[in-house]
Amino acid sequence: MTRTDARASRFAVSQCRDPALLSALHARCFETRWSIDAFADMLEAATVFAALNETTESLGYIVLRTAADEAEIISLGVVPAARRSGVATALLKCGVRHVGAGGATSLFLEVAEDNIAARAFYESRQFARIGRRDAYYSRLGAVAVDAIVMRRAIGV
Ligand SMILES: CC(C)(COP(=O)(O)OP(=O)(O)OC[C@H]1O[C@@H](n2cnc3c(N)ncnc32)[C@H](O)[C@@H]1OP(=O)(O)O)[C@@H](O)C(=O)NCCC(=O)NCCS
Repeated sequence: MTRTDARASRFAVSQCRDPALLSALHARCFETRWSIDAFADMLEAATVFAALNETTESLGYIVLRTAADEAEIISLGVVPAARRSGVATALLKCGVRHVGAGGATSLFLEVAEDNIAARAFYESRQFARIGRRDAYYSRLGAVAVDAIVMRRAIGV
């Protein structure tokens, strides 16, 4: 077990069906906020896990969707104060286990080219770059940023 995996094992991860909590967490992780309604709609079609620390404070969440044998990470965020302590690793492990058990053999995601932390995270978790989507993310008052498409095999 690596040091990151050992740290990740300290967090309790469970399925979350609370759109208000998820919207509040999202607002702490990103500059924009996805509404409670947006998360409520998402919960209809996607699986969401949240990670808690020992005081049962929610520190992060992951949203995944599966279609046939392909799964996708729709969103992943960890609150700033809890970053680099294995929370995203714990969330991803749980998500991979879940979609793998449902029959997915590949897990895909898109990440902004300028999101250095997230790209480093995914690379550290065995995701490989497989493509690019031009000008995929609009930026207020700035040039749109490309998305990097990444993939990892799971359950094999
Ligand atoms: C990307 C993000 C989810 C990572 O969450 P995290 O809980 O800090 O990640 P972990 O602690 O599990 O990190 C595991 C490994 O990923 C890599 N990593 C994570 N953050 C990194 C950073 N800022 N710089 C370099 N490597 C990083 C490291 O290899 C790390 O292991 P180490 O700490 O032992 O060196 C978090 O930074 C975040 O929420 N960012 C804002 C929202 C976002 O960009 N989401 C992704 C959108 S696609």
